[in-house]
Amino acid sequence: KNKDVHTMIEAHELLKKFYHHLLINTKEGQEALDYLLQRGFTKETIEKFEIGYSLDSWDFVVKFLTKRGFDAELMEKAGLLVRKQSDQSFLDRFRNRIMFPIHDHHGNTVAFSGRVLNKNEQPKYLNSPETKIFNKSKLLYNFNQARLHIRKQEQAILFEGFADVISAAASGVEHSIATMGTSLTDEQAKILKRNVSDIIICYDSDSAGADATIRASRTLTSIGCKVRVAVISDGMDPDDYIRKHGPEKFRNDVIGASVTLTAFKMQYYRRGKNLQNEGERVEYIEKVLHEISSLKSPVEQEIYLKQLSSEFSLPIEVLKEQIHRSSGRKD
Ligand code: UTP
Ligand code: MN
Ligand code: MN
Ligand code: MN
Ligand code: MN
Repeated sequence: KNKDVHTMIEAHELLKKFYHHLLINTKEGQEALDYLLQRGFTKETIEKFEIGYSLDSWDFVVKFLTKRGFDAELMEKAGLLVRKQSDQSFLDRFRNRIMFPIHDHHGNTVAFSGRVLNKNEQPKYLNSPETKIFNKSKLLYNFNQARLHIRKQEQAILFEGFADVISAAASGVEHSIATMGTSLTDEQAKILKRNVSDIIICYDSDSAGADATIRASRTLTSIGCKVRVAVISDGMDPDDYIRKHGPEKFRNDVIGASVTLTAFKMQYYRRGKNLQNEGERVEYIEKVLHEISSLKSPVEQEIYLKQLSSEFSLPIEVLKEQIHRSSGRKD
């Protein structure tokens, strides 16, 4: 069994190098390389993250691996091959995709995520399945390279996507990590907490990103992490932002301007609400007061109460009275 694990990793390491070679040095990889360069990935970044390209072929990997003595059935278990329904023969899982290797927390290559070149193809990212060596819910993308930076800076930045992590790291924000297309799990949060308490969530600025920010913040605060949120503007994601505005603005105006979780929620709860409408306004204010009441620091409480008070022209005493009354009630 241990031998199988070792063999699976070895196959991933070999293939990673070959995919990378195909991207960098071959005619077949040219279109993928052009795509990456035109997107703003530099040669240096492509090297650092060992990005590659899988050929547009049904059996290139089958041949590549079996020629080197790897057992096809084991390679299917490793997620690199799939079986054809009709005759049970083996096929490559990844074809004509930009290949992002995924490393476990020790640095072993244990999976891939392959991105389409053509925008309209689905899925955009095809990921390795769960295998003996790849447990999605326990793995954070780039954790292996980010760990020392996270410890040194006593902070981690959590992103949604591979491209975001890669752009951020290339911009000097090297304590960057991401989940892999899923919500942050308790296991991932605990791994983070063992290294750092301060987390900045920097998800996409669409509503899915905002919802996911709330979910991840709950997971993190429930185990004692301190969460801030770095908000991206106008429907972009962090990678889009960096490409448009550059590294310095990203570091200063996004990461440097991160807001407290409470400030983020005060914005979040507004979405889809018409605050001109009295009922919705009251609902909003009560929701925010509930958040404020859960803050441990009286100073922080006072700051947000003042904000609410001035925005809605309500005496701060009234807001305090409201908190006082609701706290007597079970919820
Ligand atoms: P996004 O759709 O935000 O992708 O998904 P992205 O990172 O901005 O990708 P680009 O910029 O178009 O290349 C965020 C993350 O969700 C996962 C991937 O991990 C992706 O990085 N995802 C997304 C999948 O696993 N499969 C998909 O089909 C799409
Ligand atoms: Mn190289
Ligand atoms: Mn997204
Ligand atoms: Mn995105
Ligand atoms: Mn993107």
